Amino acid sequence: MTTYKIALLDGDGIGPEIMAEAVKILKLVEARNDVSFDLVHTPFGASAWFDTGSSYPDESKAVTDAADAILKGPIGLSHEESKKIPVDEQPERGALLPMRRRYNTYANFRPVYLPKGLVHFSPLKPEIIGEGIDIMMIRELVGGLYFGHKETGINEDGRRYVKETLEYDEDQIKRIMKVAFTTAMKRKKVLHNIHKSNVLKSSVLWNEVMEEVHADYPEVEVINILVDAAATYLCLNPGMFDTMVMENMFGDILSDQAGGILGSLGLMPSACIGDKKAYYEPSHGSAPDIAGKNIANPYSMIGSVAMMLDMSFGLEDESKNVWNAMQSVFSEGFSTPDLSKEGAGVKMISTSEFGDKVALALKNT
Ligand code: IPM
Ligand code: MG
Repeated sequence: MTTYKIALLDGDGIGPEIMAEAVKILKLVEARNDVSFDLVHTPFGASAWFDTGSSYPDESKAVTDAADAILKGPIGLSHEESKKIPVDEQPERGALLPMRRRYNTYANFRPVYLPKGLVHFSPLKPEIIGEGIDIMMIRELVGGLYFGHKETGINEDGRRYVKETLEYDEDQIKRIMKVAFTTAMKRKKVLHNIHKSNVLKSSVLWNEVMEEVHADYPEVEVINILVDAAATYLCLNPGMFDTMVMENMFGDILSDQAGGILGSLGLMPSACIGDKKAYYEPSHGSAPDIAGKNIANPYSMIGSVAMMLDMSFGLEDESKNVWNAMQSVFSEGFSTPDLSKEGAGVKMISTSEFGDKVALALKNT
């Protein structure tokens, strides 16, 4: 039997509640398969800063270093609470970005998935959605504006200024393109390359390297599309997209928009993959306004578990079973208050009841 060590970073806000449901599923997967999971909770995020003075304490670094995979809950607090923490130590800059850098998790997979039966979650008209939405967004995660040179100061005129640079080298672009083409090969063999080469030099190099890598994947059709146009088409015709690849900042924005067309960021799990380490996290924030109320849907957290099973542990079939179990709970009409309004056909349940129902559906698979 293989034992995997999994670092669990509960995070802030709704993090601990949805993590508890993910753990339920991990325990069940363990009982059903020839694997064992060594689960180690460790502090990370704003709550860690208030408790320990660091949002990514050394103790947690040791746990994540030793882990085979990391499952991370959402982090951050309300704007007012965050302001109590020094800017560079706020959990996004003090914990999350350092972790991405530490493990060089350059490939961020964000599935944007809404089967036909769940199109009522989307704010888009049914005729726009058609057969449902099924896109894999691939976001470069450790380059660009996020990690480029930054400076602030006072310029010669005595005015405050800020400078942040969008930096990529060809190797960084090449490796994410390989991931994108490989993914497109497994899907519909159509890759939308998102860029802004009419303005940004970074996109000119991005597109050049994309063409070079494309030569190794001649079966894939590449469609180049400007990022602003892509934002429009995500709303007007999401069915035209299958695999999309984009740099870090574009990916941050378009993937939230993708959550919007699904109806909620709560439906957006993700995988962040490096050459030696991977971590898995919901794409959304910690929703402090609904924290502790047992009303947040755990889909994004359990979906992140499903991605981990497949991408880190090679349990592809079990991963599919977890996805199907979640879909079946929705298909039976169950939902949580953060996703749905009370009304015709909705059987409203809590976070923990949703997790229980997914577990039961998985047991019956
Ligand atoms: C995301 C988040 C992060 C990002 C934040 C929390 C730093 O919005 O994963 O999309 O901007 O990358
Ligand atoms: Mg984001």
